[in-house]
Amino acid sequence: MILIVDFGSQTTHLIGRRIREMGVPVEIVTPGQVLTSLKKFKPKGIILSGGPASTYGESALLVDKKIFAQNLPVLGICYGLEVMGQMLGGKVAPGKKKEYGKTSFTLLKNNTLFSNWKNKKKTFTVWMSHFDQVTVPPGDAVIVGSTPEVKIAAFADEKKKQFAVMFHPEAHHTEFGKDILKNFIFKICSEVRVDNRIKIEDLVKGIKEIIGESNAVCALSGGIDSTVTAKLAYLAIGSKLTCIYIDTGLMRLGETEDILKTYKDHFEFKFKVIKAEDLFLKNLKGVIDPESKRKIIGETFIRVLENHAQRLNSKFLLQGTIYPDVIESKGTRHSDKIKTHHNVGGIPQKHGFTIVEPLRMFYKDEVRLLASQLKIPDSVIKRHVFPGPGLAVRIIGEVTKDKVVILKKADRIVVEEIKASGLYEQIWMAFAVFTGIKTTGVTGDERKYGETIAVRVIESKDTMTADWVRLPYEVLARISERIVTEVFEVVRVVFDITTKPPATMEWE
Ligand code: XMP
Repeated sequence: MILIVDFGSQTTHLIGRRIREMGVPVEIVTPGQVLTSLKKFKPKGIILSGGPASTYGESALLVDKKIFAQNLPVLGICYGLEVMGQMLGGKVAPGKKKEYGKTSFTLLKNNTLFSNWKNKKKTFTVWMSHFDQVTVPPGDAVIVGSTPEVKIAAFADEKKKQFAVMFHPEAHHTEFGKDILKNFIFKICSEVRVDNRIKIEDLVKGIKEIIGESNAVCALSGGIDSTVTAKLAYLAIGSKLTCIYIDTGLMRLGETEDILKTYKDHFEFKFKVIKAEDLFLKNLKGVIDPESKRKIIGETFIRVLENHAQRLNSKFLLQGTIYPDVIESKGTRHSDKIKTHHNVGGIPQKHGFTIVEPLRMFYKDEVRLLASQLKIPDSVIKRHVFPGPGLAVRIIGEVTKDKVVILKKADRIVVEEIKASGLYEQIWMAFAVFTGIKTTGVTGDERKYGETIAVRVIESKDTMTADWVRLPYEVLARISERIVTEVFEVVRVVFDITTKPPATMEWE
């Protein structure tokens, strides 16, 4: 097995997932747990993850130096590279420029981490997210790669089997990232493969063990995560399960009707629809801060569910939380809070449920695989991801009924045109944002001071990184023309061309 030391990166768990997929077990531990974990797990190698801290100053987060004297291979990633640089005798300093997102890496000197590179490019795309950098490599380590902004973007001490890269090989958008991790795991650590695929029977058994013969409710949103959770729960407890769909009024135009039809046509579990638009809008009245919105929505969801669960005599609440929801809501010790996902950090501390989250450790693409094994209809599997807080996090500023109506119309046009272009299934999400910025327009020779709608179209594999889709100009043109002609209040349409990082996918 491989030990991963978690310095709080958003992608630490993703490193674990990549290695698990290679058939090698991993354990993720905090820096303080490393020495005891070495004894307990006897790993064949150690990976030091990225993280938001600095290796110097008061908030420096380091690790016991003894881990470098174990004769074990070590790979430092991003902050992990800085930790190795600092602790093994090199120097770390603030960089002149921050680098977030895509950059190009040039391999200057070959080594085992980049084995089998003959047929691969020497300069390739990688994803970085950092401010500090190593300015002097440690000990006998040699510089093996650079980027335009970072001279020491990778270093290696072959003899000691200590390697480090500034970029994230675990990120889907890093070219050859999997090859680099494979080289570390199999060539440097000499690991062997075992079968550890996720099995549906195990997930069902896990749910049954927790809930037993009791009743349970499942919060259903129409998305793939909650639908897979509901199906697994139905297989585990059958008629003891009631699924609850809360209509918040913040869904896409016509989405609630489509979702309910799909459930009626394809699923056996009992489900109830609760109309709560007025309540959500009332609770959101006057609220501008994005984090407050998310918390209010999380709390409103829970209170509505509690109310109905009581009548059904149910203490268990199943949720389709997946790993990116957990990590972005600061679900690990040293990670930073990016945003409060309504179903994780948004849940108030006091509630009357035992929460069951069978998908908590999985990523979206893993859930998609489970969904096809469970024969969930394509209309659910292929539907674009939609956030629990709905259009509330796509309306900047206060959420009002009027803004929701405008956004729904614009959003509908974006989705229709993406579908008409045949690109829908290759895209992670395509949506409109109500920016709250009024600008000047001219219609029929008259001045019109109206709304600005932003269009965001992105591709991603596992939520942790994303790129904007280079939509053909004709598609962009149609979207823009239709929005300004069909949605009266809008005078301007802009296209969001930001990757994640540094931007997140949703605007709030
Ligand atoms: P961000 O904006 O964090 O979004 O880059 C990553 C993915 O997560 C979705 N998202 C949410 N899903 N509850 C959810 O169920 C939430 O509170 C939430 N916030 C973001 C988002 O739509 C994207 O696919």
